[in-house]
Parts: sequence; structure tokens; C-alpha cells
Amino acid sequence: MRKTSVYIETIGCQMNVADTERAASRLRIAGYELVGDSESADVVLFNTCSVRARAEQKVFNRIGEVRKSSRHGKQIVGVTGCVAQLEGAAVFDHAPGVSLVVGTRATDRLPKIIERIRRGERRILDLGERDEGETWDVSPAERHSPHVAFVPIIEGCNKFCTYCIVPYSRGRERSRVASEVVAEVQRLLRSGFKEVHLIGQNVNSYRPETETGLEGFNGATPFSRLLRAVAATGVPRIKFTTSFPRDFHQDIIAAIDECGNLCNWVHLPAQSGSDRVLRLMRRGHKASDYMRRVEAIKNARRKISLTTDIIIGFPGETEKDFQATVQLVKQCQYDGIYIFKYSERKGTPAAALLGKLSDSEKTARFQALHGVQQGIQSEIYASYIGKSVSVLVEAVSTRSIEDVTGHTTCNKVVNFKGVADLIGQIVHVNVTTAKQHSLYGALV
Ligand code: 5AD
Ligand code: SF4
Repeated sequence: MRKTSVYIETIGCQMNVADTERAASRLRIAGYELVGDSESADVVLFNTCSVRARAEQKVFNRIGEVRKSSRHGKQIVGVTGCVAQLEGAAVFDHAPGVSLVVGTRATDRLPKIIERIRRGERRILDLGERDEGETWDVSPAERHSPHVAFVPIIEGCNKFCTYCIVPYSRGRERSRVASEVVAEVQRLLRSGFKEVHLIGQNVNSYRPETETGLEGFNGATPFSRLLRAVAATGVPRIKFTTSFPRDFHQDIIAAIDECGNLCNWVHLPAQSGSDRVLRLMRRGHKASDYMRRVEAIKNARRKISLTTDIIIGFPGETEKDFQATVQLVKQCQYDGIYIFKYSERKGTPAAALLGKLSDSEKTARFQALHGVQQGIQSEIYASYIGKSVSVLVEAVSTRSIEDVTGHTTCNKVVNFKGVADLIGQIVHVNVTTAKQHSLYGALV
């Protein structure tokens, strides 16, 4: 009998990618076939993000497109992830073609849910918690890359920044037991993976229920002990994201200093440089606290590259507040920044604040900050010219079939002339040219 085919489209962050991989593993084990395009699939799932309004809108646009191009009316369409969790049954009203809505912690039940729909149930809503004993294992075949793997170490968020929907869509923080994380990294290493990204909304808030797997590792916080435990597996490269400023302690830098396979890159969202706005955001730190952490990062033994997230146009943000953010960005000399226009999320405390900015005001500030960062970034990228960098070759470049592309340990994109046989290898590249967001060089 022909297997039921499923196509999963991921719209969202690394955690969504990891959730998709997990769902695909479960579906494959249950006898489904995973396919790479929506048209031929019996089941189309959208694994969704709701952090900003635009991501949410994209989901509904994509559902519409798929419904229109569907050649057989019997195609099952489902919404999973953050939009599913938040909107619940309202998704059915928004998009009547949808027959299953499955929340962020119900992914492992997807095989059974799809089966029920195939047997004739019209609509299923599951926003429940994970079942007892569920483990986060993903088969190598479902990974988004055969060389770089995302390994979730903590789910959810307890921080409740006033603008953010994540604590509602992903629930409270739950840390995976370290021995499980380490075992997964060991399996990845045996399967030939070269780089792991430990992921979570706030990786450095990692706090497992037991110390299993952390015994014998140094560090003031469980996260730094986990970093050392993962480093001890010998996997060539370890990156981690995202870090929360208030929980970013010196012991993380000490671990990076000591373990060569902990990569020299930290993503530390600042969100704003104004203490007034930071207070309204309820971030739990002032600009000066943030700067102290940045200084510690800059004083590490190896040069650590630093990236951040900034929200511009938070309700009530004045020109003076904005200038404080510009100042902070100048001071931090970031290797890269993600700038987001504040996007109102229903049900968050910030949605009730006065002083909303117009889109054109937000755009103007976005462009001004972007311009400042461009100048800083050009200089930083240019400083790599003439230097040799270590690159994990990940793919043939989309720009030229004569080039391959990969990332440095400091998470910069590097392109260079090379053959596809290099993919999966860590090589050294002499940088010859710097662009705004990438480096170009020649194989040593
Ligand atoms: N509006 C704009 N940006 C947001 N982010 C989170 N919530 C919002 C929002 N409501 C940004 C933050 C966070 C990143 C993942 O998304 O900068 O660090
Ligand atoms: Fe959202 Fe703040 Fe949690 Fe980050 S720390 S996920 S911004 S609530």
C-alpha cells in the first residue's frame, strides 16, 4: 500500500526547525513518507511562528496558496507550532480548509492525529502538554543539514518581557537532562556532524531537574557545566543561542576560554540602549549591566564575535531613547545585528501601553540604526582581509556553482572557489574580500 505523504513547511526560528525535525522523525517511524513539496503531499503541515505579526500573516497567506494549488481536494492541511498554540480553534475560522491544529508541545502525537483525520474526523485541536517520558530524539535523516545540527537544551521562557508572545506560545522553561543532551551530541558526532548548535529561547537559563551528566564538570551555573560536558564529547564545533543578558555570567566566557571547540560567537540580545525602555520592556537589566557583560566578552582570550537583537519603536520610545540605543550599538561594535520594528502582540502587557509609534516613524529609526550598523560592520568585516579563518563547508554557493559556502567559528559566512567534495570538511580559507554580510577568500 502506498504510504501517506507529508510535507512540513517551517516558518520561524531555529526552535521551529528543531520541532519540524522532531515531528518528521516521529512521522517516519509511524510509517509516513516525508516529501519536499506541497503539491504531491497528502498532508501539508505549517509549523509556525508568531513572534511578530508579519510571520503570523505569512502562515495564512501560505495556507491560501497551498489550498489554491492543491490538485486534489482531499489534501489534509494542518497548522502546528506557535500560531496553533496561541490561536487554537480560531485557526479553523481564519482558514476553513485547515483540519488539524497542533500546539508546540503536542508534536509527538501528530501521527495519531493525522490517522484520525484520515479515518474521517473533520477537525482536531490538540494544545496539550507533552506526554510523560517523551524524549527529544531526531533521526539524522530528518536533520536540516548533514553537517550542522540543532540540539534543543531548554524549551519555553519564564521571562515575560512585556512585548513578547513566546512565554504564552511556548510555555514555561523546561530544561533537558544533560546526559540526554550529551548522548545526542555523541550520536551526532558518530554520524559525522561537525557542528552542533545548542538552542533555546534562553540557553543560559538552563536549569535541569537533576545534575545527571554534569557531574565532574566545573562552572558556577548548570549552563557552563553543560558547555564543558558537551565540549568533552570532542565534537569539533559547538555554538549556542540565544543568551539572556541577566543570566550571562563570567563562567560562560571561562568555558569558551578553556575549550577550543566552544566557538567564539555570542548572540546577546540588547533590545534597547535606554534604561527607561528596558524597564518598560521588563528585561531585568540596565544598559550598564549589559555593557559590563559585553566588556567581559571582549576581554576573553580569543576574540569572540558578538551579535544582538534590537527592537525599535517600542511604545513610548522617544528620540532620546532611540539615540541611547544608537549609542549602545556604537559602543558594542557588533559583528551583526537583527533590528525588529516593534510588533504589537495581542495579550502582551506592552500592547496596552500608550505612545505607539507610526510605521513611518519606526521605518525611519530602523533605517538610521541600520545605517550606523552598516558602517561598523563594514569595518569589522574588512578587518578579516588577509587573515586565515576556519570554515565548515556546508553547501555549493547559490550564487555560483564554482563556489562553496560555509561558516567560520565566529559564525560569519565565507564563500570561496572550491569543489563539492569539500562539503562537510573544516578547511582554512584566506580572506581576500569583505562584503556587508559575508567574506570571500581562497582555500589555503
Ligand atoms: N516585536 C518586535 N520584535 C520582537 N521580538 C520579540 N517580540 C517582538 C515584538 N513583539 C524580537 C526580539 C527577540 C527576537 C527573537 O524577536 O528582539 O530577541
Ligand atoms: Fe521573549 Fe524575553 Fe523570553 Fe526572549 S527572554 S523569549 S524576548 S520573553
